[in-house]
Amino acid sequence: MIIIENLQKAFGGQEVLRDVSLRVKTGEFVALVGLSGSGKSLLLRHVVRLMRPDAGRVLVDGRDVALMPRRELEALRSRVGYVFQSGALFDSLTVFDNVAFPLREKTRLGESAIRRKVLEELDQVGLKDAEHKYPAQLSGGMLKRVALARTLVRAPEIILFDEPTTGLDPIVVNSILQLFDSVHKRLNLTGILVSHEIPEIFGIVQKIAMLHEGRIAAVETPESIRCSANPVIDQFVNGKPEGPIQY
Ligand SMILES: Nc1ncnc2c1ncn2[C@@H]1O[C@H](COP(=O)(O)OP(=O)(O)OP(=O)(O)O)[C@@H](O)[C@H]1O
Ligand SMILES: [Mg+2]
Repeated sequence: MIIIENLQKAFGGQEVLRDVSLRVKTGEFVALVGLSGSGKSLLLRHVVRLMRPDAGRVLVDGRDVALMPRRELEALRSRVGYVFQSGALFDSLTVFDNVAFPLREKTRLGESAIRRKVLEELDQVGLKDAEHKYPAQLSGGMLKRVALARTLVRAPEIILFDEPTTGLDPIVVNSILQLFDSVHKRLNLTGILVSHEIPEIFGIVQKIAMLHEGRIAAVETPESIRCSANPVIDQFVNGKPEGPIQY
């Protein structure tokens, strides 16, 4: 279970997170939505202490992430699959070696077991034939899928995905969302997915949380969100130009 309590973070006087509270139960997938620049990526970074809060806290299974000793933090990070918005692959390694990297670094698996897992994962993201290619030879969408394969290959318990499908074509978007759904159900994963894939994302999450003006403005179920009484949610989800959200 991930509990975010009254989180605050400012940069040079600009308050980005003013008072963010959110609960993600074990086994639950939550979509985090909000305007560009609202602080979604920043919020994810706090969960694995790539950022420390000015005030408030993040608890994972009851433990305050900011106070964890180094060893406990490493153990937490090994349970968390984090896909950054940029993907961030190693340019000098092939697709195969990029996906194999965490297994070689963090497990004692032999090469044949690694080979089997990596090819299975590449197959899942539709990149079975790209194993010998280098990142520079791939399209943006392919890079994104390699980054996903690299995260899923370690069978994380918690996933933090920052716009995992942004910029991909609609068929790939749906196949990746289906992949998440099946991995989620199979492994009882807990996750926060930052996504603008509306309404596709609604089919695979239990809750949608909207970050707006430094707070979680609303938490809705996929059933309730389409006819939300909250004007901020209604404007955002339905893409209405008029409403409380001002540009
Ligand atoms: N390390 C940092 N130093 C200074 N400012 C930062 C830092 N990280 C984030 N910010 C600021 O915090 C705000 C939120 O950034 P963030 O990347 O979390 O937005 P986002 O909701 O993920 O947006 P997008 O949908 O465009 O990815 C921005 O104004 C950004 O400039
Ligand atoms: Mg972001």
